[in-house]
Amino acid sequence: MKGILLAGGKGTRLFPITHGVSKQLLPIYDKPMVYYPLSVLMLAEIRNILIISTPEDLSLYKRLLGDGTQWGISLQYAIQKKPQGLAQGFILGKEFLGSSSVCMILGDNVFYGPNLETHLFEAKQNATSNNCATVFGVRVNNPSQYGVVNFDQNNQAISIVEKPPTPSSNMAVAGLYFYPNSVVDIASRIPFSDRGELEITSVNQTYLIQKQLKVVRLGKGFAWLDTGSPESLLEASQFISTIEKRQGLKVACLEEIAYEKGWITKTQVLMRGNAMGLTPYGRYLTQRFS
Ligand code: DAU
Repeated sequence: MKGILLAGGKGTRLFPITHGVSKQLLPIYDKPMVYYPLSVLMLAEIRNILIISTPEDLSLYKRLLGDGTQWGISLQYAIQKKPQGLAQGFILGKEFLGSSSVCMILGDNVFYGPNLETHLFEAKQNATSNNCATVFGVRVNNPSQYGVVNFDQNNQAISIVEKPPTPSSNMAVAGLYFYPNSVVDIASRIPFSDRGELEITSVNQTYLIQKQLKVVRLGKGFAWLDTGSPESLLEASQFISTIEKRQGLKVACLEEIAYEKGWITKTQVLMRGNAMGLTPYGRYLTQRFS
């Protein structure tokens, strides 16, 4: 399985902050936002990843993340000329994907909660062995801002609607999607929506109709953090800061994940830590791994 990380868009809800910098490069407490979704792909043991961003911002991602060898992964890059929708990522990534299944994650989605790795491996298995897509449903109090999934009495997903003005449930679809390779073909056949985008929700509807969509609910206690407004950005930082200070462990520490997966050595982790000097992130690496 390969990964696609979407880091484009305009970040309009964060103007004027995002007039000068790409949204997914903004800090969530002690590290860039994009580290969080990248860490999710790494936890799923997806090591071939395509980062997609705007013509203006792509070089900044290359500067920050490089070719991925520092984490034992391989990063490639592609430009999305205009923000024409999440599903366009599969069309832009067609060559990169080849015949692989794919996990797409949005560069502004932060996940933290119990059994995350189990959920990731099950979804991966579902795409690679069962030819089925998996999306994740999370209860939110403002569902009309998201893709919303509705269930029947038997807990079977029966519909997915993008930003419904009057949502039929509180279950939002999070920005983490697993698909078999057929998604490339499906994405190239869906029409543009009224807002001029190739909607990921149209892709999910197709799998739902084909009875090839699994909706996994991330239950109570699972944090899927919003980063779309100044207020939610601050709250996300406070959340990560609280967890990290309380546990003495970092969330989305890419070197730590890479080391635990056996992709890089302790010496490499320490070199990264030393290069970051006395920042909290740098000190975490040097103290935890020496
Ligand atoms: O966050 C989950 C939601 O993401 C889902 O519930 C919705 O079904 C899905 O459509 C999407 O909602 P938004 O329309 O609010 O997504 P937004 O336009 O904010 O873009 C999400 C991320 O993807 C953001 O980091 C920017 C990036 N992006 C977006 C578009 C439209 C791209 O890289 N390229 C794009 O063309």
